[in-house]
This record gives sequence, structure tokens and C-alpha cells, in this order.
Amino acid sequence: MISVRPIPKRRYVIGSLIAASLLTAAAGPYSRSADDPAIPKRVRAVFPATWRFPAGARAAFAPHAMVASDSRIASEVGAQIMKEGGNAVDAAVATGFALAVAYPEAGNLGGGGYMVIRMADGRVAALDYRETAPLAATRDMYVGADGKVTGESVVGPKASGVPGSVAGMLEAQRRFGALTRAQVIAPAIRLASEGFVVDSTFVRSLTGNKYRIADFDGNAVFFVNGSVPTVGTRFTQPALARALRFISDSGAAAFYRGWIADSIAVQMKRSGGLITKEDLARYRAIWRTPIRSSYRGYGFIAMPPSSSGGTTVTEMLNVLEAYGPPEPFGTAERVHAVASASQRAFVDRNSKLGDPGFVNVPLSTLTSKSYARTLARSISRTHADPTTSIASQASEGSETTHYSVVDRHGNAVATTTTLNDLYGSGVYVSGAGFFLNDEMDDFTSKPGVPNMFGLIQGEANAIAPGKRMLSAMSPTIVLDPKGSLLLIVGARGGPRIISATSQVILNVIDHRMSIADAMSAPRIHHQSLPDSIRLENGGFDSATIARLQRMGHMTYELFGVASAEAIMRVKGGYEGMPDPRSRGAAIGF
Ligand code: DON
Repeated sequence: MISVRPIPKRRYVIGSLIAASLLTAAAGPYSRSADDPAIPKRVRAVFPATWRFPAGARAAFAPHAMVASDSRIASEVGAQIMKEGGNAVDAAVATGFALAVAYPEAGNLGGGGYMVIRMADGRVAALDYRETAPLAATRDMYVGADGKVTGESVVGPKASGVPGSVAGMLEAQRRFGALTRAQVIAPAIRLASEGFVVDSTFVRSLTGNKYRIADFDGNAVFFVNGSVPTVGTRFTQPALARALRFISDSGAAAFYRGWIADSIAVQMKRSGGLITKEDLARYRAIWRTPIRSSYRGYGFIAMPPSSSGGTTVTEMLNVLEAYGPPEPFGTAERVHAVASASQRAFVDRNSKLGDPGFVNVPLSTLTSKSYARTLARSISRTHADPTTSIASQASEGSETTHYSVVDRHGNAVATTTTLNDLYGSGVYVSGAGFFLNDEMDDFTSKPGVPNMFGLIQGEANAIAPGKRMLSAMSPTIVLDPKGSLLLIVGARGGPRIISATSQVILNVIDHRMSIADAMSAPRIHHQSLPDSIRLENGGFDSATIARLQRMGHMTYELFGVASAEAIMRVKGGYEGMPDPRSRGAAIGF
């Protein structure tokens, strides 16, 4: 479908009057970058007048250490842990546990995630703590007798994979942390037992998702007497505090074998879910070899499968590098190049990627520069190719939260974790105080049938017992051409995570934007099918959209393409930027 929005006149401004005052305020960070030879001079971005985020906004600056997350409370916890002597991994884990309390829509104990780590001494690591399909899961478990896909992969007890978050966070902390387990979990226990002050964001989130929570045991916790908590009051979660105390005392075994495991198994049995104590006892977080690649001389470290994120970001960037020098930001030519690279990378993602413990993933081909050159040659300069004409050329064969952390030594952590939907499957483990995920929907329920993100995936991602469902989460660390830490970035937003993460990187490297502009800039998304470019509403002028349509692209407008959290090194310290599309906070010192 071609977009039919009213076409505004082509008109660019550098933000509004408010932005003009911010520009002055931003002079510090800009000049800091400009003075550092390892960091290219930043160029002020220019966005269309219709775009809702002004160019020239200012990021938070901190000289030593920083956390950027979707929750101010959780970012404060992470920063405090670093003030108390914790390193970036301690802070990331403390932030993760705090998110499980203060940001229950996506922070979690009942979900899974990925962590990419780069220590200042050069060690790199990638931790996969994605959920697994329960042993009783079957390939066609979400296909009804009529051959149609049921809704059970999204809501209710059958939607959940075996949670990986507790195993993952504790494993990362065990291997790289400087503090004790008890020290990093203590702030979350306090937040759960003493409560945190309810704000309007929390109330809006609960109100908007009441329909999902109300059918399950969380209703009694989040809607006492049917009402959302009042802004300004303290919200306590005693059951969650008890579970966190037990995890703090006894480690991952508490969750996977102790009474918390019993509570999950009982909950599942009672409601018809599949997760058993055996599933929980078998769960392991897995250290993987991170993807190491480069883009125009910059290095990056990314998450390999079972997430598709790092592979797809790498493939896209490689294709763009091979395609040629970047056209100016916001032009039809640039949007065409980025969308066409994305379209090709998503074709591979949707057909070739899956849990490497179950399928042969052609990772080295997909991330190779020579393969990217072949793909780049297939992109016409003047017209779009329909996805159906792009066969994979490889020779072989709504909620999430991202947070970025850097400490005073330069250790860096990028973490993305999710329950999938906001509040996951809605199912709440009442004795232990947390929601379970609906991650099973990330599998291919039926080849050719779109999942909740419209992704049409193949056999490589079919359901099998113990298998990890393919993810788009893309925690990424970028190094400058001299090999020093430059950027820590990732996002929430299903497959759009890949677009947001890669476009923040492109904005910094190709368009020389400050981190504030790189995060504020309008984004696009092309996931191969549906075969169209989604453009953020108001972010591209009418002439650009008309030109894209003449090239043969279908265009849709949508409100937002994912929500990222980033930290960038600048001279004298770091700038942290929460996505202006959501309400996070970067806190440092
Ligand atoms: O792993 C994935 O790709 C999805 N489960 C992520 C879901 C997500 O980001 C929803 N959030 N906004």
C-alpha cells in the first residue's frame, strides 16, 4: 500500500527555538569530540521541520561512568553500584535486577536476554541467556485443528519459554563482577520491599496493559481493588522481595531448583502451561564467541545466534560499506541504500538463522565482506527489488529493554532483555512476584505465517524441545579506528531493534552526528516481508517519499522504529542518551 499522507513542503530547520538554546548548551560535548583525534568531528544534524525531535539536543555528560536504561530508578542503581566500587558488569547486573522491580513491563526475572561485554583489557564476551522451549513443546503446538495459528504463543501459560534471566545475570556477575552477588542484588531487594515512588509512566503502562494482566494472578498485585497505584505513593512487591532475597542467598539454584522453581512449575500445571521442574533444572546460560567485524575502519562486537541481531546488523553494515560512500542523511538515495541492505539481510535472517545448537547457521558467510559485496552488487541505484525476487544468496545451506553501561576503567556492557510483549504472557508467578515471558511467539509457529511482529520465518526457527527461539536483540559495542571504546548501543522493539541499532551506528560513523542527534534522527525499517519501507512519521520530507515511491518502494509511515539506549565516549568522558521515543534516563558521575 502506498502511503497517502498529506505532503508537506520540503523545508528543513535545525530544530525549534527550544533546540536553538540546547545547541548552545551542547557546545561543550561537541567541542570535546572535536578535540579528540580518535573521534571524528561531529556535524550538526539537519532534520525536516515536520520531525518531532529537534536536532542539537543535549545528551547527559559524565566524566567517569554511566548507565543508560529505560528506567531512571534502575540507571541510578547501576551508577550507585559503580560508585561503591562495582565494575560495569556489576552495574549491568544490578541494573537488570532493579529493572525487574521498577520496570516490570520489560525488566524481568521471567524472561531472557543477551549481554555483550568488552573489558578495558580487551577481553570480549557474549552471553546468551535466551529462553528455551519446554521439553514438552512440539513443532506445531500453536497450529489449531483448522490449520490456523492460535493465539496461545502470545498470551497465557503456553506462551512461555523457560526463563534465562536469573542464570544469565548471575553467570555474568560471577565471571566478570568485582562485587558479591548479594551486593548487586541488594538495591533490587530494597526497591521491592520498601517500594518505589509511583510515577505517571508506571501508571500509564499498567493502565494500557490491564487487559493482559487482569486475567492472571498479577491483577491482585498491580490493581488492588481494581485500581492502578496512585502517582506519588510507594509501590511494594513483598513476594518479589522474598524471591530476590532467596536468589541473593542461594544463587541461580534458588530459581532453577528451589521453591521458586516449585512456584513456576505449580503455576504452569495449574493453568495448563508446559514448563516443568526438569525444564528449569536443565536451563543454562551459554557463553558464545562474539561477532567481531568492522565498518569503514570502526570495529564492532555483536551478539551471535541465538540472536539474529548481531548477524543481521553486521550483514547490513557490510553491504552498505560495499555499496559505496554514504549519501547525505535523509535523502531518498540513502534511505534506498539502507532499506535495500536491510531487506537483503532480513531475507537471510528469516530463512537461515536459528539456535546454533539445533541448526547449521552459515555465520561466517553471512558476516563476510565478500558475501556483502555480492549482495551490494545486486542493489540497483535507481529501483527497488521486490523481496520475492531476492533469493538468499548465502552459499551454505512489543517488550524488551536495553541498557548500556560503562565504568571508570572503560569496561563496557551492552545488555538487552525481554519478556517479549509488555508484561510477557500476562501469567504472573504469584508466590515469587514476577511475570513470565511470551517468547514462544518468536519461533516460527507455522512457516509462511507472520508472528506478532509480522516476521515470516522458516524451518531454521521451528519449535523443538530445549531450543532457543530466534531473537532480534542486538546489544552492540563499537570501537573507534584505534580500537578504543566508542559506543555502546542496543534497543527494544522486535525486529526494529536491528534497524534502530544499525542506524544509530550509521548516524555516528557515516553522518558524524552527536549521540543525541544519532538517537533523535528519524529511522526507517525494512524487514523484507512485508515488502515495504516503514518511515517514521514526519521524519522524511514529501519529496524524499515521492522519490522512494517512484523507485518502486512501498512506503508506510509509523510512529516509532524501536527505542534505543546509548552511551558514547567523548573527550573527557561519556555522553549517555536515552531514546527520546521513550522515557529512560542516562545517569553518570
Ligand atoms: O527477541 C526478540 O527479538 C523479541 N522478543 C523482542 C521483543 C521486543 O523487543 C518487544 N519490545 N518492544
